[in-house]
This record gives sequence, C-alpha cells and structure tokens, in this order.
Amino acid sequence: MNSHDLKNSLSELKYPGIHKTIGELKLLGDMKVVDSVAHIELLTVSDESYLNLKKLIEQNYSEHFTSLNITKKNLAKKDMNYGHSQAPNNRAPYAKNIIAVTSGKGGVGKSTVSVNLAIALAQKGFKVGILDADVYGPNIPRLTNTDMERIKWNDDDKIIPAQNYGLKIMSVALTTPSMDTPLVWRSSVAVNALIQFLEDVAWGELDFMVIDMPPGTGDVQLTMAQELPISAAVLVTTPQLVATDDVSRAVMMFKDINVPMAGVVENMSFFIAPDTKNRYDIFGTGGAEKIAKKYNIAYLGGIPLDMQIREASDKGEPPVALGNSEQKKYYKDIVENILQNSAFTL
Ligand SMILES: Nc1ncnc2c1ncn2[C@@H]1O[C@H](COP(=O)(O)OP(=O)(O)O)[C@@H](O)[C@H]1O
Ligand SMILES: [Mg+2]
Repeated sequence: MNSHDLKNSLSELKYPGIHKTIGELKLLGDMKVVDSVAHIELLTVSDESYLNLKKLIEQNYSEHFTSLNITKKNLAKKDMNYGHSQAPNNRAPYAKNIIAVTSGKGGVGKSTVSVNLAIALAQKGFKVGILDADVYGPNIPRLTNTDMERIKWNDDDKIIPAQNYGLKIMSVALTTPSMDTPLVWRSSVAVNALIQFLEDVAWGELDFMVIDMPPGTGDVQLTMAQELPISAAVLVTTPQLVATDDVSRAVMMFKDINVPMAGVVENMSFFIAPDTKNRYDIFGTGGAEKIAKKYNIAYLGGIPLDMQIREASDKGEPPVALGNSEQKKYYKDIVENILQNSAFTL
C-alpha cells in the first residue's frame, strides 16, 4: 500500500460509535509510507481520542506494513493556545446566531436557564433551536417535557428534532434506549456525536441556536468554539460559587478562545418566602455583579431561588412559558440584556 492508497483508505475508516469517517471528521494529518513503514499523524482533540484512533488503525492496517508509526498533534488545544479560534468552522450555517450557556460547575441551573432563555427568545418571534451539549448530564428533554420522545429520521436521512414550547430540541438523551440510560462514551465520541447533531439534524433555518454546554472547561467547550462561530457565551453561576476558581476559569477560557461573553447570570440569587413573599439575600448580594466588573463583562440579571421554579422545571413546565408573571419577567429581562450586550445578526 503506497502513501496515496493509505490516505484514501484511512479517510474512509469509520470512527467507532458514530456514522462519520475519519476523513469527514478531519482527524488526519500528514502521512507517508517509507520502506513499508507507515507514518501517520493524527489531529486529535484529546489523548483519549488519539489512543482510540491509534488502536483502530493498528487493528486495520498492521498487516499491510512492517510497522506503524502513529503520532499525534493535539491540534485543537495547541492551535487554540487553549484557544484563539480566530476563524472557527461553521457546522451550523443554518443558524444566524449561536448562544452558548456555560457554568464553572454543575448544578447551578445552567440547563434551566438555557431552556427558559430559549423559550423567551421564541416568544419574541425568533426561530430557536436548543442543543443539549451536556452529554453526561443531558436534561433538556426532561425540562421541555420531551423525554418520552425518541429520535426519528426524515426522508433525507436527517434526524427530526423534538419540538415543544416553540423550540426545536436535540439531546443525546433522545437517542438512548431510555432517558436515564447512562452514557459511557469517551469524550472524543461525545464530541463527535455533537458534531453529528449540528450537521445531521433537520434544524431548518434558525435565528438562534442555544447550546446548553457541559459545566467546566473541557474538550466539548473547546470543540464547540472551534466548530461554531459562537456569537455570545452566557455564564451562569450561583452566589455561593461566584468567587470560585471554576467561575474565573470559565470566563478566562472564553476570553482566551475569543468567544464573546454576553455576560453573567446569577441563579438562585435570593430567596422569596412562599408564604410572606419576603425577599432574603441568603448569600449576600452583588456577587455576580462583582465578577462582571472584574472581567469587564455585563451582569445580565438574577433569578431567585424559588421552589416553584424547581417543581415546575422537574415536570417539564418551564417557568417562562407556564409560570407566574414575576417568574417570566426574570428570564425575559435577561434575554433583553443579552440582546443588548451582543452583536447578533437579526
Ligand atoms: N432559580 C431556581 N430556583 C429553584 N431551583 C432551581 C432554580 N434553577 C434551577 N433550579 C433547580 O436546581 C437543579 C439544578 O438545575 P439544572 O438546571 O439542572 O442545573 P445544571 O444544568 O447547571 O446542572 C434542578 O433541580 C433545578 O430545577
Ligand atoms: Mg444541566
């Protein structure tokens, strides 16, 4: 097998677990065959995906060569210097704007905020899709009462997204046998599944694609920033976590990779007693505003810790759609602030 044949053959190799070839996923770097030794360079996002691919290639090609010299170039992280995705790909040309909702840690209400902001945008007449990129804790289907649905394909072989509350919805949780099947994917497979959701879902034309990102600063965040021109990142935090390193790291990462930050949302910001309606600032006030000042980003607003928000969300009844007028206002005000603090194409 010569260099040319090897290149063609490797490009056609299917990545395990997804319906994409290594060529389509652009994972191949330089390669040549010299004296029956194949030198193959892989462009991978993580060591995990490198080891995965190396094994796959060894299984398929060992018998064709005296030896295989498989090396890696961790392109994403290096070229992005942790970042600098000056010219990201655009895997979602059908979406005019992309909003990434992120947080330093899990459990701060990132998904709840994503869903309610997406619905508030849809209520303003925009066409909105929501992509659940939190592959290890996918809860957008539950929050939108679509968790009993399973994906179907249309005649063009595209996945039909679930729909509710005016949103088109896609999540790995719609592809597993049941909602609570745990995912045991490696991060490289998770990243590739998300790319497939961007490319192979019949989203139609969208004004906004809202992405519920995983918490923290890992492969998924970096890949999304590399594969999509993110218009605005919204950082969700709680008052307790405001001052933590996780929050700083998240802000710094988005700054480093040149993703514009729309600003920070403080969730579970204060408590309104259900009986007296008195407001209690349990964790003090102004934490997220301080963070916003420190990093020179906007403070987008706060949402109280409200038992009804939790109960309704758990039932798939988003407060911005079905809650009382105060609950609706918190999310709607944040959406207005995001629109003001970002350069969207409308
Ligand atoms: N403002 C709020 N008031 C009360 N409970 C909330 C609020 N926001 C989120 N929650 C609840 O907190 C839990 C975590 O929220 P979730 O959106 O799943 O967080 P994350 O996506 O960051 O892990 C859920 O049970 C959710 O219903
Ligand atoms: Mg979540």
